[in-house]
Order: sequence, then structure tokens, then C-alpha cells
Amino acid sequence: MLTIAVSKGRIYEEALPLLAEAGIMPVDDPKKCRKLILRTTRDDVQLVIIRATDVPTFVEYGAADMGIAGKDVLLEHGAESLYEPLDLKIACCKLMTAAHKDAPSHRGRIRVATKYVKTAQRYFAGQGIQAEIIKLYGSMELAPLVGLADCIVDLVDTGNTLKANDLEPRELIMNISSRLVVNKAAMKMKNQAIASVLDQFEQTLAKR
Ligand code: ATP
Ligand code: PRP
Repeated sequence: MLTIAVSKGRIYEEALPLLAEAGIMPVDDPKKCRKLILRTTRDDVQLVIIRATDVPTFVEYGAADMGIAGKDVLLEHGAESLYEPLDLKIACCKLMTAAHKDAPSHRGRIRVATKYVKTAQRYFAGQGIQAEIIKLYGSMELAPLVGLADCIVDLVDTGNTLKANDLEPRELIMNISSRLVVNKAAMKMKNQAIASVLDQFEQTLAKR
């Protein structure tokens, strides 16, 4: 049995066509049922539905053989313990700093609100900027509006969320897309099955 970890929502929706090309179609719809393990049209493949940030953990420990995770999540988790053989080019967005549209470029020590603590620390250290990082779990855009932080580090796609909150994008930290990650032991033990899924994903991506 090959177990693939996918997060509900945007990544699941965008991964479905790729999985379908590999003959992997979930039998149940995670939006309509509360099942966390989904059987698929392939008897040898099942999906586990988990939080986006938990995908690297499940794959690292071998609880899932493969997973689909955003590069933002992998950067934050530290993905040295995983293979990352394929950029699936889905759930694309940008990891950026953003600040209030009227705020000047900050000098000296700044306060930054984000859920990407390690990535933000690395980024600001690389820029030679002293940053105090405040960990939040969501609604980062609120932080500069209520004086919690000078700026945020968050994902930007259309820019609508920033705009709606009088913020503007500032510096690009990284272009983000979802990656296929594979457990290192599974890559050896289940090589044939994994290689065939990888191959099918690659063929589908090449046609796009
Ligand atoms: P969690 O459930 O752990 O809180 P989440 O709410 O960040 O995670 P999603 O919003 O489904 O989960 O995001 C999953 C992934 O999709 C992110 O890690 C990122 O790679 C990508 N992503 C997030 N927001 C966007 C967006 N607005 N546009 C495109 N891709 C995005
Ligand atoms: C993500 C991200 C931004 C928003 C950016 O949030 O955290 O808030 O998308 O997208 P935009 O530039 O197109 O507005 P998401 O929609 O995943 O909501 P959540 O993190 O609160 O679940």
C-alpha cells in the first residue's frame, strides 16, 4: 500500500487532476465525509487528509510514503530529512514581506508578525536587519493595523487580502509552489510504486 499525504482545501483541489492522471481517484469526498483515510480507485494507493503544516511530519516519520506540501511549509519545517523530487507547480503564490501602505521603510530593529518564524528569521538575518519575530497562527494582515508589528511575512497571491487591509507587498522572499515529497526509506523499499507515480506526475506536468 502506498500512502500519500495531502492537505484539505487548495492543495487537495489542485492535486486531484494530477492524481487522476496517475489513476488515483479518491472514492470519498473529504468535503462531504469526515474520513481521514481515503481509499482510491487504485487498491494499492490511499490518501491521508491532514493539515498542510503536518504533511512533512507524516512523510518524515514514514506515516505516509509521499506527500504534497507547499514550499513555504517545507522551508519552515526543514526538509533535509525528505526527498523533494518534483515541483508540481500547483498552489502557486509568493512569500513576501508586507506593510501598511503609508508606512516608511523601517530602519533599525523591526517587529515582524508571521507564522513562518524560522524562514523570517533567516530572511531578515540575511538582509542584515534586526527583527523581533512574533509568531501568529493566522490573520497576519491584522498585526500592522493594530500596532502588533511593523510588517508581516505571509503568502500573497492576488494581493486582494493585503489591499483589503490597506497593506502593500514589499520584498519578495520566495516564489512558492507545492512539491512532491517522499520518505527516504520508502523511496528504497517501495521504489517501483513510487517511481511509477512520479513518472506519471512528470508526464502530466510536461503536457501543461
Ligand atoms: P493550515 O491548515 O495548516 O492552517 P493553511 O490554512 O495555510 O494551512 P491552505 O490555505 O490550504 O492551508 O494552504 C496550503 C498551501 O497552499 C500553503 O502552504 C501554500 O503553499 C499554498 N497557498 C496558501 N495560500 C495560497 C494562496 N492564496 N494562493 C495560492 N496558494 C496558496
Ligand atoms: C492565504 C494567505 C493570505 C491570502 C493571500 O490565506 O495567508 O492571507 O491567502 O491570498 P491573496 O493574495 O489572493 O489575497 P488563505 O486564503 O489560505 O486563508 P487562511 O490562511 O486564513 O486559511
